[in-house]
Amino acid sequence: MRPAPALCLSLFLLASCAPKLEEVKPNTVTTPDIHSYARPAEARVEHAELDLRVDFERRVLTGTVTHRIEGSGKLTLDTRELAISQVECAPEGGSFAACNFQLGPADKILGAPLEVTLPSGTRQVRVHYETSPSAAALQWLEPAQTAGKKQPFLYTQGQPIYTRSWIPLQDSPGIRITYRAKIRTQPNFFAVMSANNDQRTSVPTGNYSFDMTQPIPPYLIALAVGEVQFRMIGGRTGIYTEKPLLDEAAREFEDLDSMVNAAERLYGTYRWDRYDVLILPPGFPIGGMENPRLTFATPTILAGDKSLVSLISHELAHSWSGNLVTNATWSDFWLNEGFTVYVERRIQEALYGRQRSEMEFAIEVDELKKEMATLKEADQHLFIDLKGRDPEEGVTLVPYIKGALMLRAIEDEVGRDRFDSFIRGYFDKFAFQSITTAAFESYLKQQLPELKLNVKEWIYQPGLPASTPKIDSYLLQQVDEQLERFEKGEAVDTREWVAQQWLHFLRGLPAKLSTEQMGRLDREYKFTASRNSEILCAWLTHVIANNYQPAQGALEEFLGRVGRQKFLKPLYQEMAKTPAGKTRAKALFAKNKANYHPIAVGAIAHVLGE
Ligand code: BES
Ligand code: ZN
Repeated sequence: MRPAPALCLSLFLLASCAPKLEEVKPNTVTTPDIHSYARPAEARVEHAELDLRVDFERRVLTGTVTHRIEGSGKLTLDTRELAISQVECAPEGGSFAACNFQLGPADKILGAPLEVTLPSGTRQVRVHYETSPSAAALQWLEPAQTAGKKQPFLYTQGQPIYTRSWIPLQDSPGIRITYRAKIRTQPNFFAVMSANNDQRTSVPTGNYSFDMTQPIPPYLIALAVGEVQFRMIGGRTGIYTEKPLLDEAAREFEDLDSMVNAAERLYGTYRWDRYDVLILPPGFPIGGMENPRLTFATPTILAGDKSLVSLISHELAHSWSGNLVTNATWSDFWLNEGFTVYVERRIQEALYGRQRSEMEFAIEVDELKKEMATLKEADQHLFIDLKGRDPEEGVTLVPYIKGALMLRAIEDEVGRDRFDSFIRGYFDKFAFQSITTAAFESYLKQQLPELKLNVKEWIYQPGLPASTPKIDSYLLQQVDEQLERFEKGEAVDTREWVAQQWLHFLRGLPAKLSTEQMGRLDREYKFTASRNSEILCAWLTHVIANNYQPAQGALEEFLGRVGRQKFLKPLYQEMAKTPAGKTRAKALFAKNKANYHPIAVGAIAHVLGE
């Protein structure tokens, strides 16, 4: 039996307690990361101590980070839009004294390198700094943008290279660090981080301490400050969200503990102690972010019927693929996401059955094929070349779905039992390490020498190889039959359809629909009033394309409330297809911009050619 977490902490040195000590030793990847200025071979950060004050008035974080370092010569940190006021150095056990530093020129994508000249014997480096109100990682919300409407809200998004906009550090996924933090907020404000969250409610001082004792890549350091409450789901799981959403969220995620248990049965001990989920206000720019111990998620997955919980299975899966075994560089991103989608499928299968899991997979494969057709060949590889590019450009369905399909192809060839023990072994072998695609390839060859699959073709060639497994879904075939009937003008049978079937139906409808057809669909199936954000978004693309008047209000309400890029991008894109639509899109964007996260603002501006 696994000892209880608290016991495990004190018995940390016992071999039976995961994580094992040798696994926790931070590793250094020697492959250069083109998205970081850090030169870890010379001097590297091992541990960071934050002391930050959250200033909602000025929208800045102010304070210090103290790095414990290894090495000598020059320490190079990544920064972006930070105002650095002072740098101090200290030897082991000695006191801090000002040391020389230089902030280099800022690159649009990478930010600016901060080079600290280390007096000999330096073991600690303290940087005094302040963030910018436009820091890419930070979204500051007015009380009006929250559900409670009383307190402002702040949260961070680090992946891929935004952590440097709120902490000067070596911002490469190949460099793992432990961290501690003192976060000072206003009286009775509440803060949570991707760390131990011992404090479950706000305290009068508004000051909080955090500790992350397991080495993680910097993109996983995360903070949120806002009026959220905690609700326990199971022994080691729970939900944080604003009070008005608490009941609904707790119902939607009542399977949280079962999810963790299912994942453990498949892939071994959950090594991060607790698994909690923070449901953010609707402006959150992505679906979910796997911040260790505390997944950040969009409220748009609250559908009322658990139909969108696969997103939580996905973020939970990252506790193995991504957080335990991490991509060494952003070109290896498929190692994070491809494995995670595969594991997500397996968790969904364990909880909700093969039919649902295959149906969800088949829908994603359809989306992959559509997107692939728009990508240049080099971006259809699993391992992608990001030289001179923003790592966000590598975030397509290719690393996710093509990656998962390759793993499925391996499973199909060697059999599930053998593949399950391969993956288990992979997570154990590389636990708390960051690895390259090449390391994966050689481990695969070593462990599954009989494998005939042409893995190189999958990783380094465009498109989907002939060996791509077919993902069949009987439930979606039913929908296809009804779509054919719809096109012929015949009555369609939608009885007992589940959310994914409706989604497939909406995505399969002809692009051109008459006002009469739109009206009939809406009257019969109530799409405009759907509580399911995926269904609503798919419907709204038809609303735009066919200029369906009765739903224009719903469209504008959605664009004004939701900040999730996955929904915003296709909707703005659809509008921008006609000159009049583009004018309207620009006007709506100008109006809603303040509600969107800086990352989403950049992405939509790009879509609209601004
Ligand atoms: N780690 C990603 C989010 C991410 C990727 C942020 C790259 C920034 C850069 C997260 O696990 C994720 O994939 N989220 C998806 C949902 C998932 C179910 C596919 C999202 O946010 O849409
Ligand atoms: Zn992911």
